[in-house]
Amino acid sequence: MQNYVNWFRTAAPYINAHKGKTVVLAFGGDVVEDERFAAIVHDIAILSTLGLKLVLVHGTGNAMDATLPEATQEAGAARGRRAVSTQDLERITGHAGLLRARIEALLSMGIANSPMHGARIRVCSGNFVIAQPLGVHAGTDFGHAGRVRRIDRDGISAELVSGNIVLLSPLGYSTTGEIFYLGHDEVAVAAATSLGADKLVFLEESLLTDAAGNVQRDLPLRLAQTLAAEQPSAVLDAAIDACQGGVERCYVLDYRRDGALLCELYTRDGIGTMVNRDSYESIRVAGIEDVGGIMELIAPLERDGTLVRRSRERLELEIDCFSVVERDGAIIACAALYADTPNRSGELACVATDPGYRRSGRANRLLEHIEARARDGGVERLFVLTTRTAHWFVERGFRPAELGELPEKRRELYNYQRNSKVFIKNI
Ligand SMILES: CC(C)(COP(=O)(O)OP(=O)(O)OC[C@H]1O[C@@H](n2cnc3c(N)ncnc32)[C@H](O)[C@@H]1OP(=O)(O)O)[C@@H](O)C(=O)NCCC(=O)NCCS
Repeated sequence: MQNYVNWFRTAAPYINAHKGKTVVLAFGGDVVEDERFAAIVHDIAILSTLGLKLVLVHGTGNAMDATLPEATQEAGAARGRRAVSTQDLERITGHAGLLRARIEALLSMGIANSPMHGARIRVCSGNFVIAQPLGVHAGTDFGHAGRVRRIDRDGISAELVSGNIVLLSPLGYSTTGEIFYLGHDEVAVAAATSLGADKLVFLEESLLTDAAGNVQRDLPLRLAQTLAAEQPSAVLDAAIDACQGGVERCYVLDYRRDGALLCELYTRDGIGTMVNRDSYESIRVAGIEDVGGIMELIAPLERDGTLVRRSRERLELEIDCFSVVERDGAIIACAALYADTPNRSGELACVATDPGYRRSGRANRLLEHIEARARDGGVERLFVLTTRTAHWFVERGFRPAELGELPEKRRELYNYQRNSKVFIKNI
């Protein structure tokens, strides 16, 4: 029971944060044909009832592609695409229709075996994707292979505002009334950028890895671009395109993991690969090369007495305790964790954000990062001593504490002249 209560408490802020957000969810036809798809749709239904505005984009599956001629190796717009004849198009539209019906049927089940059973989830599809022909490349006529010309943003938005899920197939219609076969990744990226979606999620068979096969969890755009140059990947290219088009965050999730969508959206650390637009900023553990940047950041705060003075030597010795936010090579925020492992406690100190970058949640993100570091190191109680920032900590779950609650060693070092207040948070 306690686990459940704890889970609920940790999920609640995420439920709140995601309510009303637009999420585009892309998956291939193989996912729809997988036996696990019913469970995925069940989770999609939960997301919908939790207030997310959802656009689903499905592909047509490998079985379909095998019937088509070989993909081109040509660079440019036609790269990796296959020509689509009139007969191919008939097969594709038939198969796409079947898959769409399957998705609609599963969404009509509501949320079985739960008190929300019978909750009506409406899904709508239509002529939301306007397409144009891919045309002739290097002498090959690509026939009914097309590309996205435009997304009917207003039409989709109207459905989302009414609480409906929008389902898009990899088909688009031209102003001349023709049908074109599109890549579902391309449709998803076009929909996400055109709608200004908050998130674009790709359900894939595996997460993104580097050349050595290491799974990548957090990929700022710049790093994602380097990775894409070393190791071409269609889904990585799509995520990069989306981020460049203004989507804040793209996720690649392993659809075979039960509950992957829920874990990614409603837990602190997520479980997939995230490509984020904030390419110039990252949170990381500090290294010796950061000492200069940290000193520059905290010097004015030391001068006015907000922070305790630290010599360069001390900072160099303690640099492993620091975490920093780096932006364009500059340190714009920092915080330190002095862990006292035997006592399972740790001191949070030296929290500072450059005045030019305050009030954008950076210190908050640093605190989350420090808490994760602390938990990994076996710390259960985080304490902080502050003279002027009490409310900031209280608003983030710290409670006022007595001096006596500090570990003995730290109590002995307490500076009565500074008269700092003590706050503690169980993490
Ligand atoms: C406190 C500090 C680290 C917050 O950095 P930040 O990156 O702006 O933090 P966030 O964006 O996560 O939070 C901003 C919120 O904190 C509030 N805040 C800032 N300073 C505060 C303080 N002294 N007391 C209470 N709240 C404070 C801001 O008003 C803002 O809330 P609002 O937008 O609701 O008004 C930053 O103001 C700073 O560097 N202050 C000087 C150093 C300091 O006091 N450090 C703590 C010593 S232990």
